[in-house]
Parts: sequence; structure tokens; C-alpha cells
Amino acid sequence: MTGQRVSPSEGTIGRKGIVLAGGTGSRLHPITLSTSKQLLPIYDKPMIYYPISVLMLAGVREVAIITTPEDQAQFRRLLGDGSQWGMAFTYIIQERPEGLSQAYILAEDFLAGSPSTMVLGDNIFFGHGLPELLARADANGLAATVFGYKVADPERYGVVDFDAEGKVRALVEKPSIPPSSYAVTGLYFLDGTAPRRARSLKPSARGELEITDLLETYLREDNLFVEQMGRGFAWLDTGTYASLLDAGNFVRTLSQRQGMQTGCPEEIAFNKGWIDANALRVQAARFGKSDYGRYLLDLVD
Ligand code: G1P
Repeated sequence: MTGQRVSPSEGTIGRKGIVLAGGTGSRLHPITLSTSKQLLPIYDKPMIYYPISVLMLAGVREVAIITTPEDQAQFRRLLGDGSQWGMAFTYIIQERPEGLSQAYILAEDFLAGSPSTMVLGDNIFFGHGLPELLARADANGLAATVFGYKVADPERYGVVDFDAEGKVRALVEKPSIPPSSYAVTGLYFLDGTAPRRARSLKPSARGELEITDLLETYLREDNLFVEQMGRGFAWLDTGTYASLLDAGNFVRTLSQRQGMQTGCPEEIAFNKGWIDANALRVQAARFGKSDYGRYLLDLVD
């Protein structure tokens, strides 16, 4: 750990990052009785590596990691202060899973008025052109950008309701009759007003401060942009036993076929020049004889 100062972001407007990794993971019990869902393996690395990688690709270096009180120690053990990846991590506790929008209230002091990129700790994105897509969202002058992704089971997500002209009319959380097949992914580029807006929300019927309600405040002001994530992207689900296994197999297939990692924070940090070859060697040494460690060594040598 170098303890060096890290600038919040490489992007145009100094975004800070949030990874929301709270929740009880009850749909995956008993696997998640003794550990956080976001620490479960997706093939060769913990799930949270993937969303952190997305923030890194978006150029965000200063990140708050929000966890349950019980799980925080394990996240700290895994991720440390972030300096191993040229980043800076702040840990924040969410006492109870009271909604995605609550993350903005909990992170208000950390954000200190900055715009932010929030990603859910169990959302996995992959696709050619992802860095460009993220850069566009970062630079978009509109106050909020989210991503719509076509899925076969929209009722499990926040869903976009389009009017006849294809303009976004509303966002609906877990509708029994989905107005479209476009789910809103767990990746949110919001401006510095998000915490104030979140504080004005009322809990929904399920007792949560819903992200869709927060996004609606932007939509009402015509400040919400829904960018389509097309068919060339994978947005993987990890919410059921089967989809968790599928996500792992997807990563395995891809990385074995190409001999390239996906969601590898060390590689992204190295390519971005956030860490040097020596720092990468130190990281590789930590992973000893594992294939992951060997992969990192190959990057330097
Ligand atoms: C949450 C959001 C939902 C979004 C989804 C993405 O759902 O409420 O709008 O589509 O994340 O993963 P939850 O994880 O609370 O079921």
C-alpha cells in the first residue's frame, strides 16, 4: 500500500464511484448465510471485481464500497484501501437493505457534491466498446444516464416504459405486466444532486427507497437519458443458483478461448498507468501459483 493521493476521476467532471454491495442475498441461501453474495466467485475471481472493473473503465478512482455491518471486514480484507490498483476506497455501512437510493444518502459526505457513477455489486457487464459507452455517459451533459438492456424476464427489474415515439415515459419497478422488454441495468451516472433527491423520497410498498423513484425525479425534469446497451453486450444476472453458475461459465468460456481476462482490476490499472510494472509484479506474487497470478506476470514480462 502506497498511501498516495488519488485523483477522483480521469473523466471530464470528476465523478466519484459507489459500489453497492449490501443486502442479505436471501435468494441464494444457504450459500449466502455466512458470506456476502458479492464475494462469491464468478469463475476465477470474486463477483465484486467485475463491477469495480466497470468503474475503473469509466475512469473512476475514488470509490465508496457500501456493505452490511457484518460483511465489511471481509470486503476490507479482500480490497484493502484500493492503492494496490491505484485507487482509493472508502467503506460505508448500510445497516439494513432499505433501497438503492439510500446509497446516495449514505454516501453524501463521501461524494461532497460530486457527480457519481454507482454500480451494483452483483452486476456484471461485458462487451466490446464498453469503455466508449462509459465515456459517453460520463461526458453526457444531461443530469442522469442509465442503460436499457433487452431481457427475457423484465418483470424482475426496473423497466423502461417508452411512448409511441420511443421517448421514455416512465420507469416501473418490477411490474407484473412489463411495459417493454428493456430492463434498467444496475449502473447509474447521476449528478451531484442525487443525495438531496434521495432524501426527498418515500419508501415503496416493499419498504425501500427505490432507484426508479430517484430516476423519475430526473425524468420529470427531462434530465434522464436512457442509453441502449445493444446485443453486443452481456449484462449477466447472478440472482439465482443457475444464473450464478451461468455467469461463471460465461467468464470461463471467454477467458479460456481468448487467453484474456475479463474484470481484472490489476490489468486495467496497469493499462491505464495507475500502477507500474513493479506494482503489478507485487500483486502477481500475492496470488502465488494460481493461474490468475501467472496471467498478471505475463502482462509484465
Ligand atoms: C435493482 C433495481 C432495479 C434494477 C436492478 C438491476 O433491483 O431496483 O431497478 O433493474 O437492481 O440489477 P433489485 O436488485 O433490488 O431486485
